[in-house]
Amino acid sequence: MSNAPAIDFIDLKAQRNHIGARMEDAILKVVRHGKYIMGPEVAELEAKLGAFCGSKYVLSCANGTDALGIVLMAKEVGPGDAILVPSFTFAATGEVVAWVGATPIFVDCLPDTFNMDPASLEAGIDTARRLGLKPKGVIPVDLFGLPADYDAIEKIAKANDLWVFADTAQGFGGTYKGRTTGGIGDFAATSFFPAKPLGCYGDGGAVFTNDAKLMDVLRSLRVHGQGSDKYDNVRIGLNARLDTMQAAVLLEKLAVFPAEIDARNKVAARYSAALEDLCIVPRVPKDLVSVWAQYTIRLPNADRDKVAAALKAEGIPTMVYYVKPMHRQTAYAKYPVAGNGLPVSDRLAGEVLSLPMHAYLDEATQDRIVAALRRAIPAARR
Ligand SMILES: Cc1ncc(COP(=O)(O)O)c(C=O)c1O
Repeated sequence: MSNAPAIDFIDLKAQRNHIGARMEDAILKVVRHGKYIMGPEVAELEAKLGAFCGSKYVLSCANGTDALGIVLMAKEVGPGDAILVPSFTFAATGEVVAWVGATPIFVDCLPDTFNMDPASLEAGIDTARRLGLKPKGVIPVDLFGLPADYDAIEKIAKANDLWVFADTAQGFGGTYKGRTTGGIGDFAATSFFPAKPLGCYGDGGAVFTNDAKLMDVLRSLRVHGQGSDKYDNVRIGLNARLDTMQAAVLLEKLAVFPAEIDARNKVAARYSAALEDLCIVPRVPKDLVSVWAQYTIRLPNADRDKVAAALKAEGIPTMVYYVKPMHRQTAYAKYPVAGNGLPVSDRLAGEVLSLPMHAYLDEATQDRIVAALRRAIPAARR
């Protein structure tokens, strides 16, 4: 055991200290004005998020899972429909498809970006049709903060009459060839879970779209399906509003977000320069900018558990995202996979290791993490 102080995986305290009293003031303002539900900060946040990512309409909501699910409800996805989703993702991406009674078809990912493999997407569309299902949409995920390959995915979607619904819960604020995530796809959803690159102090999420009609339905669904008369609900909805207090927190965080994205990219570049001879470091394709929700290395030739244990003994936390792809999880194993299986997702699940990553990771702390890896990985070689 080392005597060095424990490192945070994501240091939210450092961010708090950086933002300082502005955050307390913003929260207290809400406490004092008392409009805790749909207060003025909610509309202000929606406008600023839309301007930030180039989306005409933004619907803030209670969490990222609701943001995904509410759109599927609005699009009237249901039994007999198939939605193409990656398997190597957080469970919410596929969960919401099952919520509405449709069938998630799990698609493989690419080994170097961890994002949806366009060839597997095409195979998945064939699989859906072979099973007699109607493929309606695809939900690419900007995994670990890196935008998915939207040019390729949009081309396939267009050829097959599918909409593209970007799950940018991990990637909001990233860029793909000049387009900002949130503004990419027919509609997009994000999460403001505290650990996300843009996170609040509880649960939160948002939907983005340029479609005015869809937005009307989403607004109604967010509040129990209400119509123009508040007490005449015109559809079955949810209670999926974002709290005013969380909107106030997000407004302060959004103000520092561009600088934080730069800082995250500096941290990632330093990790990659220091580790690329030792393990497989994440690749960022040309003209893409990641927001680095995670910095994830691959260890194909080392015992990952040993590496993680050696780091832990030195006070350095790591995480495995994701130890089980969705198609291997108990609740989802019954759903179809694209083509003949998802070999890349299966392989990555055994190789990935995410390292501490946040905008305030200082160089000395990062050097400690790198030095520990340089000892641990050679010692765990297979
Ligand atoms: C890819 C992805 N989709 C959806 C979600 C769901 O977001 P939330 O936790 O806010 O419901 C998350 C995060 O947790 C996520 O990482």
